[in-house]
Amino acid sequence: MLLCNAYSVLSYRISGTPFMLSEDNIELQFATNHMGHFLLTNLLLDTMKKTTHESKREGRIVNVTSCGHRFTYRGGIRFDKINDESSYQKFHAYAQSKLANILHANELARCLKHVAGY
Ligand SMILES: NC(=O)c1ccc[n+]([C@@H]2O[C@H](COP(=O)([O-])OP(=O)(O)OC[C@H]3O[C@@H](n4cnc5c(N)ncnc54)[C@H](OP(=O)(O)O)[C@@H]3O)[C@@H](O)[C@H]2O)c1
Repeated sequence: MLLCNAYSVLSYRISGTPFMLSEDNIELQFATNHMGHFLLTNLLLDTMKKTTHESKREGRIVNVTSCGHRFTYRGGIRFDKINDESSYQKFHAYAQSKLANILHANELARCLKHVAGY
C-alpha cells in the first residue's frame, strides 16, 4: 500500500503559502502536493505490481486530496502558468494541486484497471 499524504504547509494555516519554488524550480505547492506524489508513485509502481503478483494480495495507492480542489483557478489546472508568480493566488494554487491529485488517481485507476490485484 502506498499512501500519499504530504502537503506544503509553511504559513498556509495563517495566510496561505506564499509563492516559492522547489529545488527543482516548480511552484512549491504543486511540487509537493502533486509532483512529489506523482514521481514517488511512478518510482514504486513496478515494485508494487510485482509484490501484488507474488503475494496475491491486493495493492492500494491512496492519494489524500481536499474538497478544496473545487476552488482552483478558472479553467482548471494552469499547466502553462504553474510558475507564474505575477498571477499566483495561494488558495487557487493549493486547489489546483489537489485537483491534480484527483486526476492522477483517476488516471492511475483507469490504467491499472486490467492489472490483477488493483
Ligand atoms: N488539515 C486540513 O484542513 C485538510 C483539509 C483537506 C485536506 N487535507 C489534506 O490532508 C493531508 C494532510 O494534511 P494535514 O492537515 O494532516 O497536514 P499536516 O499535519 O500539516 O502534515 C503535512 C505533512 O506533509 C509533510 N510534508 C510537507 N512538505 C513535504 C515535502 N516537501 N516532502 C515530504 N513531506 C512533506 C509534513 O512533513 P513534516 O512533518 O516532516 O514537516 C507533514 O508530515 C494533505 O494532503 C492535505 O492537503 C487537509
